[in-house]
Amino acid sequence: MIVVTTTDKLHETLSLFRREGRSIGFVPTMGALHAGHVSLVKQCVADNDVSVVSIFVNPTQFNDKNDLIHYPRTLDADLNLLEPVGVTVVFAPGVEEVYPQEDIRKFDFGMLDKVMEGKHRPGHFNGVAQVVSRLFDLVKPIRAYFGEKDFQQVAIIRAMVRQLNLPVEIVAMPIVREADGLALSSRNARLTSQQRKLAVKISEALTKSRNFAGRSSVQDTIKQVVDEINSNDGLQVEYFEIVDGNSLQSISEWQNTEYAVGCITVFCGEIRLIDNITYFAKQ
Ligand code: PAF
Repeated sequence: MIVVTTTDKLHETLSLFRREGRSIGFVPTMGALHAGHVSLVKQCVADNDVSVVSIFVNPTQFNDKNDLIHYPRTLDADLNLLEPVGVTVVFAPGVEEVYPQEDIRKFDFGMLDKVMEGKHRPGHFNGVAQVVSRLFDLVKPIRAYFGEKDFQQVAIIRAMVRQLNLPVEIVAMPIVREADGLALSSRNARLTSQQRKLAVKISEALTKSRNFAGRSSVQDTIKQVVDEINSNDGLQVEYFEIVDGNSLQSISEWQNTEYAVGCITVFCGEIRLIDNITYFAKQ
């Protein structure tokens, strides 16, 4: 596994592989890697001749500076996790390598980023689009892998790829969960043991809601999930929306969509956790 920290070295290393006609797959990450990331990396290694993983905590996607300061940084542990999986290149740059000049680009995603995470974290998806497009430009992968836990992020990245006409296939991978159901997240590392016990209530409420989603209205389903989670001291739902999985716009009736997804964000103390559930996806 080759670890590079500069764009020059990355370019030099990947040019060699490209000249040999090898296919390049890419997994962008912010580090603090867990089994969810490993599932993306394993798929990338299986699909491509060369696998590149970036580890970069992108400042432009943090609307909350406190969140940026506290974001876990665990480079040595991350490299130890990646080595046995068969990664070819790890790109772990500093901010000045990714942004030699300030990135002032403004993306227009229409309604896609006006809802849910985009509404509650203004500027977040513009920052994600900035860094992912910059990394795509540096790595030039033919495939890139993202986790469906960040459901809205996947939709934004697909929209960005269409807008910029980039020759990259976006591969979305299913959420990886702990044995009790909690969706894996780098933020889980910040939960106290008490909060960790509480956090499982999020996936429990979502899973239960699948049973009565078909029998109850959209509004009653939302109310049931929110009330159940908020009944736990220490958990506070920021939003729970049931949306069309393509447009990400809220639905008011189940029959308004062929693809119904419930997306939730919950504060567990100060830690913001997200999760989602697909109720149905008709072919
Ligand atoms: O999902 C993430 O970890 C980040 O948003 C990403 C895609 C690596 C961009 O910084």
